[in-house]
Amino acid sequence: MRHHMPTRVVFGRRVLYKLKDEIDFLGLDDSRTAVICGSSAVSHGYVKAISEQVSGKVSIFCSVEPDPTVENALQVLSEVKAFSPTLIVAVGGGSSLDVAKAVSVMLTNEGDIHQFIGIPEPFKNPGVPVVAVPTTAGSGSEVTPYAVLTDRKNLKKAPLISRYLFPVLALDDPELTVSMPQTVTANTGIDALTHALESLLSKRATPISRLYSLESAKLIFNYLPRAFGNSKDISARERVMMGSLLGGMAITDAGAGLVHTLAHVLGVLYRVPHGLANGIFLVPVLEFYGLSVKETLAELSDYMGVSGGAEGFLRALKELLSFLGIPEKASPVGVKKDDFTLFISLVMEKKFLMGNLPRIPTERDIRAILETLV
Ligand SMILES: [Fe+2]
Repeated sequence: MRHHMPTRVVFGRRVLYKLKDEIDFLGLDDSRTAVICGSSAVSHGYVKAISEQVSGKVSIFCSVEPDPTVENALQVLSEVKAFSPTLIVAVGGGSSLDVAKAVSVMLTNEGDIHQFIGIPEPFKNPGVPVVAVPTTAGSGSEVTPYAVLTDRKNLKKAPLISRYLFPVLALDDPELTVSMPQTVTANTGIDALTHALESLLSKRATPISRLYSLESAKLIFNYLPRAFGNSKDISARERVMMGSLLGGMAITDAGAGLVHTLAHVLGVLYRVPHGLANGIFLVPVLEFYGLSVKETLAELSDYMGVSGGAEGFLRALKELLSFLGIPEKASPVGVKKDDFTLFISLVMEKKFLMGNLPRIPTERDIRAILETLV
């Protein structure tokens, strides 16, 4: 068993304002700091709060798009390259964090980024250090070695995977997540829950990752409805963010699974937000796993205090997804039977990822899962 999570995590309300202390503590060179973000991090004042705590020159790059493409990452890279930063601060959702992490390693490594996607450990050199400041509670990217990018031309959505993608520091401030719109709260929360469940059911799960998975699922199940119902419920926000952080640590050790594989294909073909795409596939995939995960789901339901074992857990999950407005079908996001062949072939291209699944699907199984969704 291995456990490797080199990111320093500082968690709690208003830790955004500890950035300066943490830069000093870690001895980071902030003489040239690139802040990488999307537009909302500027309008909510987070970029200003960061800039005021940096002692050197600051340059702001706020053109990260949701579920970013390779082209978007390359455009940000070319702008950041001209500035030649000594430190990168990423602020925003998983998209901003992932683009910043990709930029960090592409600044110090030669080669075509398309060739690196989906290939473990393709980088020779460490990147420029990244401080990650998440403003959503979902991706867990502040503590993972992954950066997911979409390659539209080759219909590929997959992560860069490298130990050099761990941020040096994560500042998890739940007060920043209050500004999320309600649908983003739901979608990102479901992404975090999917990390918890897929890591728990992975064949790579370890005694350490199991602890993260179980607690992550429990926190998100119990507190996401409150954060969704009232965006200002800060104690619920805090617990959902902890759930997201633990979910990130869990997939770092144990990996994700079939829900993510299907969600990435849904994302690249229909431009469905990542968390929503996971939410659509969660129940059909768990039902496909069936008896192979019954015992583990029963342990989870016990841990969460949900009665009825694996069936009880599935009932509670359906209730949660419905409360959050996640559609039961994929047809509302554009999926049609005519597309199944292409969809299935893109899923099967990722078959090499499936060794860790509790039940390995055939093409027919994928088709059967899709059939339940239209
Ligand atoms: Fe995810």
